[in-house]
Amino acid sequence: MNLSGKTEVYGIVGFPVKHSLSPVFQNAFFEYLSLDAVYVPFEVKPDSFKEAFLGLKALGVKGVNITVPFKERAFELCDLSDEPSKVIRAVNTVKFTDRIEGYNTDWIGFLRALRELEKELEGKKVLVLGAGGTAKAVVYALSREGCYIYIFNRTYERAIELARNFSAQVVKKPEDVLDDADIIINTTSVGLSDDDPPLFDYQMLRDHHIVFDVIYRSTPLVKTALKKGAKAQNGLSMLIYQGMESFRIWTGLEAPVSVAINSLSDYVL
Ligand code: ATR
Repeated sequence: MNLSGKTEVYGIVGFPVKHSLSPVFQNAFFEYLSLDAVYVPFEVKPDSFKEAFLGLKALGVKGVNITVPFKERAFELCDLSDEPSKVIRAVNTVKFTDRIEGYNTDWIGFLRALRELEKELEGKKVLVLGAGGTAKAVVYALSREGCYIYIFNRTYERAIELARNFSAQVVKKPEDVLDDADIIINTTSVGLSDDDPPLFDYQMLRDHHIVFDVIYRSTPLVKTALKKGAKAQNGLSMLIYQGMESFRIWTGLEAPVSVAINSLSDYVL
C-alpha cells in the first residue's frame, strides 16, 4: 500500500473496534481495484462520539462504517438518510460529501446471506431472537420479504416495542413457537463464547429448520443445528455483504465477494 497526499481515507467508527474485520476486507477491495484509498479503525469513546463524527467530515474522510454503539446516534447526525435507515432509525454506512449522507446496509447484507440458505422467504415463519439494533435491521428485512415474524427477547418490553413497529408477534419463550418456525435467527450476543447459557434448548432443533446466527463464528446454536440436519450459517457472509454494499455506496464499484473471503482466511476459522 502506497499512501500519498491524494490517498482517500475511509474507516469504521465504534467502541470497541479493535476486533473488527472490516478493515481487513475493505482494504483488500481497495487493493484489488487499485484504488488510492485506505480504511482504518477509529475507536471513539462514547462521550466523544459527536465531536469525532463531525471531525471526520472536517478532516475530509470520504466515508465510514458505524458500528456498536453508535448507529442510532450517527443516524441523528446525518443531513440525509435513505429510506431503510429512516425506518430502522440507525445507519451503518456514512458518506461524507458537502453533506453527511447516512445509509443502512445491514438489512441488505442479512437478506443476501439468508437467501443463500433459503431463496423463498415470502410467508415463512421466522423466530427472531433479540430486539436490539441488529434485530431491527433483521426484522425490517424480513417484513419487506413478507415473512411472519415472532420475536423473543430477554427484556420483554424491548420485544414489544420492536414488534409494534413491524407488526410482529412477541413470544415469552422460544420453545413456544419452535415447532412452528421455519427459520430461526439469533441477533443477540449469546454464543460469542461457547460458555454462554443458551437461549433455549438447542437439542429441540429439527432438520426442517433454517438457522442463521449473526455472530461470525461457529456458535453452539449453529453447530447443534448442523448436527440435527438443519441448514445453518454464521454471520460472516452478512458482514461481507453489508460491507460490499457500503463499498458500492462510497465508490460506485462492485467488490467481488471472493476477495473478501480470501482476505479473511487468516482471521476466521
Ligand atoms: P446490537 O446492536 O448488536 O443488536 P444491542 O442493541 O445492545 O446490540 O442488542 C443486544 C441484544 O442481545 C439484545 O436483544 C439483548 O437483550 P436485552 O434487550 O434483554 O438486553 C441481547 N442479549 C445480550 N446479552 C444477552 C444474554 N446474555 N442473554 C439474552 N439476550 C442477550
